[in-house]
Amino acid sequence: MKIERFHLERWMTTWELDVDYDIAESGIAPLSIAELLRIDADDDAYEALAVLATIPLGYSEARGTAALRQAVAQTYNNVEADDILITTGAIEANFLLFHALLDRGDHVVVVAPAYQQLLSVPRSIGCDVTPWRLLPERGLAFDLDELERLLRPNTRLIVINSPHNPTGSVLAEADLRRIANLAEDRGALVLSDEAYRGLEHGDGPPMPSSMRDLSANGIGVGTLSKAYGLPGLRIGWIAANPDIVQRCWGLRDYVSLSPGKLNDHLAHIAVARRAAIFARNRRIIAANLETARAWFAANADLCTWTEPRAGLLALMRYTLDLPSEVVADGLARDASVMLAPGAAFDNEGYLRIGIGQHPAIFREGLDRTATYLRALSARR
Ligand SMILES: Cc1ncc(COP(=O)(O)O)c(C=O)c1O
Repeated sequence: MKIERFHLERWMTTWELDVDYDIAESGIAPLSIAELLRIDADDDAYEALAVLATIPLGYSEARGTAALRQAVAQTYNNVEADDILITTGAIEANFLLFHALLDRGDHVVVVAPAYQQLLSVPRSIGCDVTPWRLLPERGLAFDLDELERLLRPNTRLIVINSPHNPTGSVLAEADLRRIANLAEDRGALVLSDEAYRGLEHGDGPPMPSSMRDLSANGIGVGTLSKAYGLPGLRIGWIAANPDIVQRCWGLRDYVSLSPGKLNDHLAHIAVARRAAIFARNRRIIAANLETARAWFAANADLCTWTEPRAGLLALMRYTLDLPSEVVADGLARDASVMLAPGAAFDNEGYLRIGIGQHPAIFREGLDRTATYLRALSARR
């Protein structure tokens, strides 16, 4: 298989061990095992740790334990445990789905910019990939009329992602229903990457239904990496009809076989306690949004942003006339701050910011960014 270099992942690995203020991250400040065991629990976290210590580390159930699949299914309105396949993060879920559903020459429409996997894997399969663009001149909003124009009678798959990485734009319930209808009319499927579901903002729109609950042709991809703050568990899932689940499972037999047993156990605890976890994470987002609003107001000569409507990510436009990778490398090297280069998303002139970091690190990261950009502007 020939595949494009994953630009953002490579850039992040260049700097992530060296910088002190990583405000590029697409995740939320992660929970420790002790925090997860303590949150919303009556018993002592260390008793729960003792239970963990007794789990035999054999192979786990290949699809994910029935208990975990049942718990995940209950986060939807209309989904059974057999409609769920537990995967190694959303990244494996997407990879399996593309390979199970697509053949060379198939027409696929994919939201763009996007988490690069969503564009690169269909291209690597030899699909005819049409990007559905969120344009700065349209406020980085989803344009449903444009999507309708891009679809063809033989379109096989529509790939969406909402809340969206990297813009923080959101598809409302009515938009999702329209996409479902457009797909059904053409016999197409919809892969809805819902990695950032559950991360609505206090004053933003309510989270709409999953695409899986809206259409027989809908496929939902979920993960514990974002809204749950548990990326290290590497637990994601596919919610789809049992035929698609079986086909993806058949492929997964050759890749990762089954989820790690401890991870499956901890994931079950996290899904059961999600209300408390989401509340903790929304508090972090609310604090960082307040900091960011004040910072952008004070530094409008350096940077502007389209505030995210939900999720953890947004694009910020800087006024300096320099390539985004030069600015991002300089920030990392000279100010110990990580903001991701827009070039990794084909959005030159922008940096991607994540609003999930610990509030103190987030604030200091932004302050250092202003100092660095101001000094750079003065030198030019
Ligand atoms: C839109 C999107 N999908 C999938 C992933 C992969 O997430 P996971 O950690 O669940 O594999 C990411 C990670 O940043 C993402 O932003």
